Amino acid sequence: MAKIRKAVFPVAGLGTRFLPVTKASPKEMLPIVDKPLIQYAAEEAEDAGVDQLVFITGRNKRSIEDHFDKAYELEMELESAGKHKLLEIVQNILPPQVHCIFLRQAEALGLGHAVLCARPVVGNEAFAVLLADDLIHSDGQGVVEQMAHMYERYGCSILSVMEVPPEETAMYGIVETRTGPSGEQLVTSIVEKPAPQDAPSTLAVVGRYLLTPGIFDKLEQTQAGSGEEIQLTDAIAALLADEPVIAYPFRGKRYDCGSKLGYLEATVEYGLSHPELGDDFADYLRQLVV
Ligand code: UTP
Repeated sequence: MAKIRKAVFPVAGLGTRFLPVTKASPKEMLPIVDKPLIQYAAEEAEDAGVDQLVFITGRNKRSIEDHFDKAYELEMELESAGKHKLLEIVQNILPPQVHCIFLRQAEALGLGHAVLCARPVVGNEAFAVLLADDLIHSDGQGVVEQMAHMYERYGCSILSVMEVPPEETAMYGIVETRTGPSGEQLVTSIVEKPAPQDAPSTLAVVGRYLLTPGIFDKLEQTQAGSGEEIQLTDAIAALLADEPVIAYPFRGKRYDCGSKLGYLEATVEYGLSHPELGDDFADYLRQLVV
């Protein structure tokens, strides 16, 4: 089975839940302590062996390109000031074997449309999709690496899933599954943002997908659905007619950094486990709550 070498990062959304901060800058550049969300996602893909990062960008996304670009002036300043540790951090944002490709989604027509924009670059191979506002912490392998191993075994599309409270189904794509011959969970249906009374289960898809190239033909045929957007979920539903799709309950803790509360939770927990400031931050929080 071929390895997963390409990862697609749809970053062209409007990020309305984070206005006004997202008026002129992308939500994927929001920092969790000292790294932007998009860098956590890029590192997760790189750890899985991905060496082509494909960003689907829109208006106001220049800072993402700049973040992954070489910063000559800054590097020279740090060098001459003897700030070698910082210089190393800046130079290591992108490992040498990894390449970035930036494609433009002219209009925010939906996540499905954003993924379809990657077709000319991805071509006829399986690829990962990461939504950077879903930050997932895992102690061992990252979620993309976990899914890449699943792909080596099963060779089909894989969706990362987690259980959500029944009242939250309208925030996610929800899958129904049956157990396959080796214990895998085969998706039997998928629906975007169902009301709790219509949801087939409480198993929600979160922002990590491993997709076969068959998804592109389905996306071409997908009409605007929920929220008047071209939904990736609808194309996956169509793919089910042709190919197996597995729901994978990943190992790790997911923070919904597209919401303010999830973002604050991630900030606090990453702050507490930060090697340099974790202890001081813990002391501060203790003082605050007594
Ligand atoms: P969201 O549903 O989180 O939408 O998109 P959003 O616009 O980013 O944020 P809100 O809801 O207005 O606050 C899920 C993912 O799909 C990308 C987003 O960048 C995000 O990573 N996306 C969405 C696109 O790239 N293009 C689109 O047309 C829509």
